[in-house]
Amino acid sequence: MQLIGLHFGAEVLLRNHREFGRARLQFTQDNPLWKSLEPEQVVWMSHGDFLPHPPADFIQIGQSEGKAISAMAHKSRPVFGVQFHPEVSHTQNGTRILANFAYEVCHATGGWDAAAFLERAIPEIQNKVGSGKILCGLSGGVDSAVTAKVIARAVGNQLTSVFVDNGLLRKDEAAQVAQTFGEYRDLNLRIVDARQRFLNRLKGIEEPETKRKAIGEEFIAVFREEAEKIGEFDFLAQGTLYPDVIESTSVHGPSATIKSHHNVGGLPDVMHMQLIEPLRELFKDEVRAVGRLLDLPPKILDRHPFPGPGLAVRILGEVTEAQLEILREADAIFIEELHRSGWYERASQAFAVLLPVQTVGVMGDERTYESVIALRSVDTSDFMTADFTRLPFDVLAKIAGRIANEVRGVNRVVYDITTKPPATVEWE
Ligand code: XMP
Repeated sequence: MQLIGLHFGAEVLLRNHREFGRARLQFTQDNPLWKSLEPEQVVWMSHGDFLPHPPADFIQIGQSEGKAISAMAHKSRPVFGVQFHPEVSHTQNGTRILANFAYEVCHATGGWDAAAFLERAIPEIQNKVGSGKILCGLSGGVDSAVTAKVIARAVGNQLTSVFVDNGLLRKDEAAQVAQTFGEYRDLNLRIVDARQRFLNRLKGIEEPETKRKAIGEEFIAVFREEAEKIGEFDFLAQGTLYPDVIESTSVHGPSATIKSHHNVGGLPDVMHMQLIEPLRELFKDEVRAVGRLLDLPPKILDRHPFPGPGLAVRILGEVTEAQLEILREADAIFIEELHRSGWYERASQAFAVLLPVQTVGVMGDERTYESVIALRSVDTSDFMTADFTRLPFDVLAKIAGRIANEVRGVNRVVYDITTKPPATVEWE
């Protein structure tokens, strides 16, 4: 609003008292933005500068207690400014205000649905690909699964999917991926068992970024060798989503950088393939809707995100098979109990971490000196910021009890209650 104000010749002043936090907004004029809303609204403010008067061709349409202009509209053109944050959840009807803008001002129809998306995407893929051959990496996650299914729907047997089992996956995950995706004949799935290769490569590495880099390089090497074995490919399919596109856009303009290290980004260059990204204009919930339409099962569609480097960044320090085994078991118990208690769907991402410390415990008459498992569960919408999940103590107690009793090598369980920032979601 301040920028629009400046642009249209208004004065922007610095206020002595910042207006920060919850505020009451009063509508001072009827406006399409306010459609279906009560004339007084709770909104979230965060500003020091303010507009004392609207620019010449604007009228004030909203005011907060501070008497500053809180919203304004151009008299004849579809230009609006709001001083509060409609996009945050503390603004009670912020989404309604944004929807009013989209529907009432921009005349969006809100007609997006998965079926319409497929109707458009499939001929687009067919045109682009022609009779070319496509390679698609499957990770077991939602994005790559939906990408592969969309492409299979479009060009059938021109597609080959490859799943690399790097040994850093959750318990039974590789088997599940093999089973679920193996059943879809149209995906033409190949599974590469690279578990030992990754373990060898990770030997002696303790530093998180070095680990990530090693895993990324190894992944590319394995993927490339496998592709060469199968034959020539013209296209590489990738599950890039709209948030990835935004995040990889540099301030100097759109860049071709795809989120690096773990993903297949970087592959097309060395492999001389063209990139094909059918989901690049979609958000996660839309991808899930497309996946549902393509009959992907909920166990694939509703699963929490999982980092490319997998359990390697959840074993702090060096990764060994023995530690992977401990972490897989502990993580499986955690996730199982979250499902049982109904908390899995409520949390955005939950997992166990194996700490590189030993602590003292007692079991029977014996003193033990064993590892610590940290549990992490976060609530977030975009993973840029996150809060820890307020899991009930009795659920946590059950999980901790089971892990300490059932997982050999663990005698203590802790729950991570830090937000992001200052912490991150992952521990490495
Ligand atoms: P952080 O730890 O950065 O995590 O707060 C935010 C989200 O990103 C995931 N994450 C990764 N995903 N490769 C990935 O594919 C990575 O190296 C990586 N590091 C973090 C993390 O699981 C969370 O969902």
